[in-house]
Order: sequence, then structure tokens, then C-alpha cells
Amino acid sequence: MKRTKIKEILTNPIINEEYLVKGWIRTHRNVKQIHFIALNDGSTVKNLQIVIDEKDFDSKFLKRLTTGASIGVRGTLVESLGKEQSVELKAINVELYGECDAETYPLQKKGHSLEFLRTIAHLRPRTNTFGCIFRIRHAAAFAIHYYFNQRGFIYLHTPIITGSDCEGAGKMFKVTTLDLYNLPYTPDGKIDFSQDFFGRETNLTVSGQLEGELGALALGEIYTFGPTFRAENSNTPRHLAEFWMIEPEMAFYDINDNMDLAEDFIKYIIKYVLDNCPDDLQFLNDRYDNELIDRLHWVLKEKFARITYTDAIEVLLKSNENFEFPVYWGADLQAEHERYLVEKYYKKPIIITDYPKEIKAFYMKLNDDGKTVRAMDVLFPKIGEIIGGSQREDDYDKLLKRVKELNIPEKDVWWYLETRKFGTAPHSGFGLGFERLMLFLTGMSNIRDVIPFPRTPKNAEF
Ligand code: 4AD
Ligand code: MG
Repeated sequence: MKRTKIKEILTNPIINEEYLVKGWIRTHRNVKQIHFIALNDGSTVKNLQIVIDEKDFDSKFLKRLTTGASIGVRGTLVESLGKEQSVELKAINVELYGECDAETYPLQKKGHSLEFLRTIAHLRPRTNTFGCIFRIRHAAAFAIHYYFNQRGFIYLHTPIITGSDCEGAGKMFKVTTLDLYNLPYTPDGKIDFSQDFFGRETNLTVSGQLEGELGALALGEIYTFGPTFRAENSNTPRHLAEFWMIEPEMAFYDINDNMDLAEDFIKYIIKYVLDNCPDDLQFLNDRYDNELIDRLHWVLKEKFARITYTDAIEVLLKSNENFEFPVYWGADLQAEHERYLVEKYYKKPIIITDYPKEIKAFYMKLNDDGKTVRAMDVLFPKIGEIIGGSQREDDYDKLLKRVKELNIPEKDVWWYLETRKFGTAPHSGFGLGFERLMLFLTGMSNIRDVIPFPRTPKNAEF
């Protein structure tokens, strides 16, 4: 007999039909001769109630059906008399695949803290909370591919191992096969990377953007969606050392087209998750953040405010807030500044544009004032920066000047520069931090809880 997923049974129950279900026991209780098992198979946050009549089974066998054990049940679907569910499966046959020791199983009791669950990331997907989060994560990832595919964007796979530093922040993980206990040196005492695997220094990518631009300048509109790596030693609820980024890159888009796309894109994903994950959202809403669903609807309705960096500084200077970090034109905006702008002043998502060139990456298009670049950051309530992007410098001479000013080795980016010599075109793009978006979609407050196996300073377990 073919297995049916619990989600399918609960969405489209056929009374008196025989089903085979497989999953893990959440709870097992009995009222005299009748046993009730709440079975979950990961397809939905809802459990299917299994009803077992003790007289049809060996009572020793039934004792082995403990919380966490994995079973298969063949039975008949009947209407339930209970208040909690409308249907239940009356067991004809039960197969025990894997027992679960009641003494040592860490998820025996309910109501563990998120901190504790992080220490058992191998088992936390079995909790309701993480089931909801990972189903939402899947739905959002699917929506992203769907969105771009519908609009003719090409999914371009950019490399994970690179020789360049896109953001120029130097927060990269080195990739090497050299023997660290016996390094080869050049005559002038430097490590001889010519003997390394790639014959040069390489690192894990911090962004797929530079290669994404090469794709956009041929295919028109592309996107990447892959893991990126940053060795920033920031132990915050917003930073991971390994996170996923969605980076669309579009030829013939200026900064305004770029902002329009970013806003439409992010709203599409939110709407998709609202439409497709109602049970998971409701669970998280009830359990963790009772404004979650309202907030998602609210963002869909709001037109994002668009302001320049210079305006943002004005607003901050005029505020009566006592900021920890000083506010002046040229300062990088800190989380406290961003939160004030988003949550107190504009009270909705905002897009800040035209930042001073000194605090942004080398590839951003220089404005006519010679001081600011055509950058755009999208800031969200409770999250802060969720998207970073810009119109790209498409003028060869200006780009080369910037590369030289910042001492970026030309040998690392010669191919990038060449695209500005051979049929350059205005183009733009942005990067959406997938886990930052996940924080917003789930109402979770720590980024470690929206990725299955978080990588953070001093932590690469699992
Ligand atoms: O602003 P960032 O550094 O921009 C770029 O990397 C550009 N190359 C993107 C582009 O234009 N194609 O990073 C983009 C986004 C941030 O807005 C944030 O959401 C997320 O990536 N992000 C992180 N998420 C989790 N942990 C970290 N350490 C992150 N650093 C950035
Ligand atoms: Mg940024």
C-alpha cells in the first residue's frame, strides 16, 4: 500500500478510506483500553490522531510506541468525536521502525527554550516550531525561483570559490590545500600560493555579484541564489558566517528600476508565504509573536519610503534621540539609527539611496556630485538592513580610478573591468539576505533559528 502524507489526509479526508501513514510519535496516551497517538510526518504542523484498541494489539508492543519513535500505521479514517480534530485513523496494523528511548530522548518534554534547541540542531527539526520555520523557508525559496522564472530571469550559478573580494571588506575565509604545518615560502618570505591547489590565493565568496554582472551583460536579467560566507566576528542575532543570498542583476536598469524590482520582489515572497503557509504562520504567531501575521499584511499594503542618505542624516540630526554612535554626514548608519528611521520616524520599510562613496563598495555608480554613489539599502522594521544594492559603475575610466584608489589588485578584477570596455551598459542589482528575510517572515528574533545548521563564530557543530 502506498503511503499518504498527513497533510494530504487532513486537507482532503475521505471517511472510511484505508490509508498508510508514516511518521514520528509526538505523544501517546491511553484511556483504559484505547490508545491515542499524535503522529507527525513533517508535511504539516498538524498531527494525525491514531486510535489503537488495545484488545487488537500486544500490550508489550504498545509500550514501545513512545514519544519520538518512528512508526507506520495502516488504518481506516473515521470521524473523530474529540474536540481537537475532525478525523482520526483507526489502526489496523502498526509497524515500529525505530524505537526512541524515553529516558534519554531530549524532546521528551515540551516547551524547550530556543537556546537549548540550538544545542540539539540534529533533532530540533522535529519540534513544531522548527517544522514551521523550515517549511516556510522552503516556500520562500520556491517563491523566489518562481518569481524570477515568471519574469524571464536566468538562474546563473556563480562560483563559491573565488579569487576576488566583492565587498572589499576583507572578511573572507581562505580556501587552501597547502599543508599548514609545512608551508612553502617565496624567497622574500611570503607564503607561496603558486604551489596551492589553484596556483593562487582563493577564498569562499562573500557575494556572487561580480560574476552575476558578467551574466547580466549577456543574458539581460539574471539572479543567483546561493550560500555566501563572511568571516565577520560579529556575534549578533543578525549575522551568520554562512548565509544565503539572492542576487538579481539586470542590464538596462537604473537605480529606480532596481528599487521597483526590490519592492515588488519582497512583497511577492511575503504574499506567497501568507497564501501558502497559513498553518505554520498561525503557529508562530500564537507561540512567539502575536503581531506576525498583521505585520506581514501591513508591509504588503505600505509603499516603501524612498529617501536619500543626506535626508536620513537630516532626520536623525533633528531627532531628540540620544544615540550611542554620533550622527554626521559621512557616518555609516548604525542599527540604532536605522531602527529610529524605520520604526519611529517613517513607521514602514524604507529605501535609503545615495550614500557617501567612502562607506560603500568600489563598484557603485558615482553620482554627478562626485561624493555619493547610487547605492540603495532596504531597511525593515525589527530587522534593519535586509537588502543592499546599487546601480553599478559602467564607465571604464571611473571604475578603474576607484579600483586604484582602493588599492584593489587589478590582476584580481581584470575580467570585471573588461566588461566596461566591451559593450558596457547601464545596469543594477541587489542582494537580499535570505535569513534576514526569514526573520521577518517567521517573527523569530535570532538568525540562528531560521537556518537549519547555523555557522557562527566558534560554532560549526552538526
Ligand atoms: O549589503 P551586502 O554586503 O551587499 C552585497 O553583498 C552586494 N554584493 C549585493 C548585491 O548588490 N548583489 O549584503 C547583502 C545582504 C544584506 O543586506 C543582508 O541582508 C545580508 O546580505 N547579509 C547578511 N546576512 C546574514 N549574515 C551576515 N553576516 C550578512 N551580511 C550581509
Ligand atoms: Mg550592506
